[in-house]
Amino acid sequence: MPTPPLVIGEDYCEHPFHAKSIINISGMSYGAISAPAVRALSLGAAEAGCWLNTGEGGLSPYHLEGGGDIVMQIGTAKYGIRDQEGNFSPERAKELAKVVKAFEIKLSQGAKPGKGGLLPGTKVTNEISAIRGIPAHRDSISPNRHRDIGNVDELLDKIAHIRDLTGRPVGVKAAIGGWHFINDLCDAVNRRGSEYAPDFLTIDGGEGGSGAAPQTLFDHMSLPIAEALPRVVDALLESGLRDRVRVVAAGKLVTAARAAWALCAGADYVNTARGFMFSLGCIQAMRCHTNTCPTGITTHNRRLQRGLVVQEKYLRVANYAKNMNREIDMIAYSCGLRHARQLKREHVRIVETAGKSVALNILYPYPEILSL
Ligand SMILES: Cc1cc2nc3c(=O)[nH]c(=O)nc-3n(C[C@H](O)[C@H](O)[C@H](O)COP(=O)(O)O)c2cc1C
Repeated sequence: MPTPPLVIGEDYCEHPFHAKSIINISGMSYGAISAPAVRALSLGAAEAGCWLNTGEGGLSPYHLEGGGDIVMQIGTAKYGIRDQEGNFSPERAKELAKVVKAFEIKLSQGAKPGKGGLLPGTKVTNEISAIRGIPAHRDSISPNRHRDIGNVDELLDKIAHIRDLTGRPVGVKAAIGGWHFINDLCDAVNRRGSEYAPDFLTIDGGEGGSGAAPQTLFDHMSLPIAEALPRVVDALLESGLRDRVRVVAAGKLVTAARAAWALCAGADYVNTARGFMFSLGCIQAMRCHTNTCPTGITTHNRRLQRGLVVQEKYLRVANYAKNMNREIDMIAYSCGLRHARQLKREHVRIVETAGKSVALNILYPYPEILSL
């Protein structure tokens, strides 16, 4: 049978999110990608039943065009959800909650952990200024951290605040550099109560893509998803929070086999940016930051955008998501399972340096407290 939907935030918020698809569209902001690219993703997501994450550039009318599920990302600059001074705006959050299914507080991403950003004034058009809530034609800085979140307790306060305010599930996106963060997070939730837990965690591997990142951070920083994911899942299992917190994995998980690996390691959903970029026609010209993308995906040049025909490309977006889900299910059936959410660590083998393979549950044994 096809993999059933899984609910995010059940029993903890007014409007839990029934997320239908295993494969979903990772955050890519309007600004980093073009209007036709966002429109094709929006229509494709609605057709396939997957969610579309806005990225940190705010919610644009293009995201809403398809009428599918939207996850609104809250970046460090709070683009699209800020007041005149750049602070988080409760009024704006309540407005957004009418049209989005969940909120995601972005702490970091695998391609450039610890790095903020600068949007040059030349790119801050009147439209971008209105969507992001920033002055037009002036440089805009994204800090490298949330100024109103200095530690894990303040993060939990923010999660609970936004959930109460909006009635929508609230998650956290982070790249992983070591085990302190996830251990501290689980300890703090258990100290304060499960109503403070994030409804989902999006774990971004160091191999995660980006429209623009310094090469050194891109190549060398943040743990790969293969290492980060099993340990994050273990921390949730050990602290009794695995059923409370859904796990989304990302980082070059662009084939059904890699996505199935992530489910085996303990993820509930998989996000990809790169996979959907390819479905839009990305040829990896490596010019995302130059406004000269030859495929029209990351350029605001109207002439170059003409190559991206929304009515054609949205079907490819939908087909990619649908076929990924179908093939992940096929892998699960091949393991003798009913659906993909039954995949476990013993269903995957990892080839070690000597060429021998070892089952993932031997490499990363489940915590002893569990009899799975
Ligand atoms: C063009 C582009 C724009 C992106 N913009 C954002 C963003 O606004 N916020 C964010 O958290 N991640 C952003 N990312 C990173 C992805 O959401 C995600 O972390 C990573 O790309 C997932 O790995 P994958 O691309 O290997 O599938 C962007 C990635 C790309 C390719």
